[in-house]
Amino acid sequence: ALAIWHQLTKSEIPELAKASVLMRDRSRVETTIQAMHRAGPDALQVISDFDMTLSRFAYNGTRCPTTHNILDNDLLINDACKKRIRELLNIYYPIEIDAACTVEEKLPHMVEWWTSVHELLIQQKIRKDLLALAVEQSSAMLREGYRVFFDHLQQQQVPLLIFSAGVGDILEEVIRQNHVFHPNIHVISNYMDFDQSGELQAFKGPLIHTFNKREGALLHAAHFRKLRERPNVLLLGDSLGDLTMADGLAHTQHTLTVGFLNDQVGERRESYINSYDIVLVKDETMDVPNAILNYIA
Ligand code: TMP
Ligand code: MG
Repeated sequence: ALAIWHQLTKSEIPELAKASVLMRDRSRVETTIQAMHRAGPDALQVISDFDMTLSRFAYNGTRCPTTHNILDNDLLINDACKKRIRELLNIYYPIEIDAACTVEEKLPHMVEWWTSVHELLIQQKIRKDLLALAVEQSSAMLREGYRVFFDHLQQQQVPLLIFSAGVGDILEEVIRQNHVFHPNIHVISNYMDFDQSGELQAFKGPLIHTFNKREGALLHAAHFRKLRERPNVLLLGDSLGDLTMADGLAHTQHTLTVGFLNDQVGERRESYINSYDIVLVKDETMDVPNAILNYIA
């Protein structure tokens, strides 16, 4: 197995030898990639988180915004609301990423965070026709190498499910402004509901937060059923909650999970290595997913 791994890493996927790539079980990763390679693109689907997975965590040392944070713009919300949303971020983000806290302990806090922010946004009567401008004015960026990632999946007709606890309208706009919103993309997220005059009046459907993606996946069983002839899954995420995004799939053959470890690296390293097949530490690029995709599809 070691020889095959050397083969794969040295000649086929040299990106896996980068120092930022951590693996609990290299031989399992190697065997899975080989099996996915043999099955080819027709057997593959990709499921990815959006914020801080497809989008960048930081650029030149400065944090990039999540889809919620893109709404922090004078065009859309007033100063008091901005202040309150930032206070909530300062309270709840540390809980979201706290390595010493279980998912069960985090759950009620996440529901509180999302519910409070969505209520504040609704009070602001955000205008639909200003969302595109807010995205343009933001510093949101997709990870380096995003174009190869999106274009390759479209060319190979591999479905890409983007499963996000962010704001669907915003993430779609980010992808559109980067010219990669291809027809192979399906999005499950929190979508805004506008009234007839184009003002935000509610969020549609059941709330999705970082740690209830499993429930969200099960609600979208019909979508997953359409993809049942694609038993191999490449899953990309940045939170441990993202690992449940494929739970709506009844029959999977091979699943390879890739986790971006962006923040609190020392504290969370061990749990990420134990949970994701491949962990990418402070890697702002799509290089590793692209190299794997180039080999298997
Ligand atoms: P994701 O599922 O696409 O990663 O989106 C969820 C992220 O959004 C999660 O990491 C927390 C973040 N978030 C904010 O940055 N601001 C907010 O107000 C809320 C509710 C979530
Ligand atoms: Mg994320």
